[in-house]
Amino acid sequence: MTESNRQWILRQRPVGDVSDDDLILETGEMPHADDGEIVVRTRLLSMDPANRAWMNETPSYMDPVPLNGPMLGMALGEVTESRSDRFSVGDTVMGLGSWSEYCKRPAAAFQPVPTLPGLSEQEVFGMLLVVGPTAYFGVHDICAPKPGETLVVSGAAGAVGSIAGQLGKAWGARVVGIAGGADKCRRVTEDYGMDAAIDYKAENVNARLGELCPDGIDCYFDNVGGDILDAVLGRMNDFARVAQCGAISMYNADKPVPGPYNYINIVMRRIKIQGFIVLDHMDRYPEAFEVLAGLRNDGKLHWDFDLDEGLDNALTAFRKLYSGDNTGKMLLKVAD
Ligand SMILES: NC(=O)c1ccc[n+]([C@@H]2O[C@H](COP(=O)([O-])OP(=O)(O)OC[C@H]3O[C@@H](n4cnc5c(N)ncnc54)[C@H](OP(=O)(O)O)[C@@H]3O)[C@@H](O)[C@H]2O)c1
Repeated sequence: MTESNRQWILRQRPVGDVSDDDLILETGEMPHADDGEIVVRTRLLSMDPANRAWMNETPSYMDPVPLNGPMLGMALGEVTESRSDRFSVGDTVMGLGSWSEYCKRPAAAFQPVPTLPGLSEQEVFGMLLVVGPTAYFGVHDICAPKPGETLVVSGAAGAVGSIAGQLGKAWGARVVGIAGGADKCRRVTEDYGMDAAIDYKAENVNARLGELCPDGIDCYFDNVGGDILDAVLGRMNDFARVAQCGAISMYNADKPVPGPYNYINIVMRRIKIQGFIVLDHMDRYPEAFEVLAGLRNDGKLHWDFDLDEGLDNALTAFRKLYSGDNTGKMLLKVAD
């Protein structure tokens, strides 16, 4: 085993877009586990939009990443050292690691990789640790579309959005996806089977929603917030439901973002807006796994990966989530 360890260190908190001075790739000493900890050799890192929020000082559902500490991220890898009875050396684990070749973490931050028939380790890690269950709980519990209702999904060509749209279709809704660019819109309808797509970069979202949802919108799975949320709120039906999954258009904002102009429609239309974090539902992961793996193995769930390579490229890979250059669940291969 090598005695050095490369890792991305959060040197300063970003203001707006993450700059090259905010996160620095540094070489340090190999970490060693203290009581209750493990050291994990990272094989795959998941690049998640929420990583940006973790860099802020403001506490959220997670404590902020400490300044001058390694950047945290979801990771899959092998245990190389263990001082916990949860794991042995050689175990493959997934959980909250860091953007590092080797990370030292509390054993409780990791779990074994479940074996699911027909699914590879990369699929279980990339699609079932966060993405699939997020789509499942948001659509199933909050949007709860009835057959024939209209569900709108933003970020519809992305990892979570593509699954959310397909679940809506599987459960009988009419689904309109919103994504950036002609190619992504083609994927929304052709690959992910949604009924229609709106290119928010080239089309007037409000006008297109009017054309494509003539009977109004019953459910909205929101990944982006901002103007698109506003346009959808203005066209919702009575007793509509919004699964507030994320607001990627706001994560890099360098000043306060105004609320939606159509806020009052929440009252007029008696809309239920429910924010949620997938980690709150971990006790129900087996339920989500059964549905998602079942649909996948029946050929009814399409998913895509965008796999970049090399720890050096972590920031480049992360930025693709914000430029929209990722074409599927964004993963980074750190080691074989
Ligand atoms: N609540 C939870 O527990 C939970 C868990 C996981 C993820 N999430 C949220 O789910 C959302 C999607 O995450 P993901 O991992 O699946 O990423 P993703 O959708 O695969 O990638 C992010 C996508 O966001 C779109 N985007 C970027 N900037 C945008 C902007 N200003 N306006 C509109 N769209 C923009 C881009 O697609 P286009 O090319 O189409 O613009 C980009 O490809 C994020 O908001 C994330 O925070 C929430």
